[in-house]
Amino acid sequence: MPFLKPICIATWNFPNASLRAGEMLAAGVSALDAVEQGVMVEEANVKNTTVGKGGAPDREGNVTLDACIMSPDGNAGAVVYLKHNTHAVSVARKVMEETPHVMLAGEGADQFAKAQGFEREELLTEASEKAYQEWLKKKEYKPIINIENHDTIGMLCIDQKGDLAGACTSSGLSYKMNGRVGDSPIIGAGLFLDNEVGGAVATGMGEAILKTVGSFLIVELMRQGKSPQEACEAAIMRIIKQNPNYSDFQAAFIAINKKGEIGSYCIQKGFSYMKYQDGTNKNIQSKFYL
Ligand code: GLY
Repeated sequence: MPFLKPICIATWNFPNASLRAGEMLAAGVSALDAVEQGVMVEEANVKNTTVGKGGAPDREGNVTLDACIMSPDGNAGAVVYLKHNTHAVSVARKVMEETPHVMLAGEGADQFAKAQGFEREELLTEASEKAYQEWLKKKEYKPIINIENHDTIGMLCIDQKGDLAGACTSSGLSYKMNGRVGDSPIIGAGLFLDNEVGGAVATGMGEAILKTVGSFLIVELMRQGKSPQEACEAAIMRIIKQNPNYSDFQAAFIAINKKGEIGSYCIQKGFSYMKYQDGTNKNIQSKFYL
């Protein structure tokens, strides 16, 4: 039976992204197109220092983007260490649709993007260059909890047909080591969905999320009968158990099942998510552990 009320949820307080996706869903656009277009809003937002253009560079001054996308049929595409294109999610979608692979990295991802007609761009903005020059003075590597409430955008949409798609895109941790890849482009860690069950996306400290394959875990727990809320809480508790220093970082998940029920949970206070449904676009504070 078709799901009659399309819905978009997305990490953090990025209302323009959920609005774009939600309005597209309301107009009958597919969940896959809606998640791509939705997260593209933040990729293009140069004020957002953790997604797309304007993202903070690594400690050698490179802005490198990670992204993935999943379609309702379980297909997936991803790029890691993409250096010259704002819309990493769109390159990831091309990987999914135009190659026999799931993930392309670094130079190969850049070459592929060029071959697909994406124009080469400079991702380091004047503001992010300035912030980097400041950082170089002390070279302190201390990722800030909730990074001024901006981090990876992960989005899940259910369209008018009841199909579920998801996307996740990030410039990763500010001043990470050159070559570092986080959870965001890793299917199962930053994003996972099963169109028969539901989906989950992650934000926060990628290393902790990677080690618990959190989004996959949440979908499997929902498959076994847990609600999205129970499943998100179980995934965060897994991270807490595995990381004695859990109070030093943020990790958060949001999830949705095929009934449209939503869950979210995180370690630290301060994480919220967007929900667009029935013409209402709202920001909702997540429950948290600490
Ligand atoms: N969650 C984004 C990252 O750790 O790269």
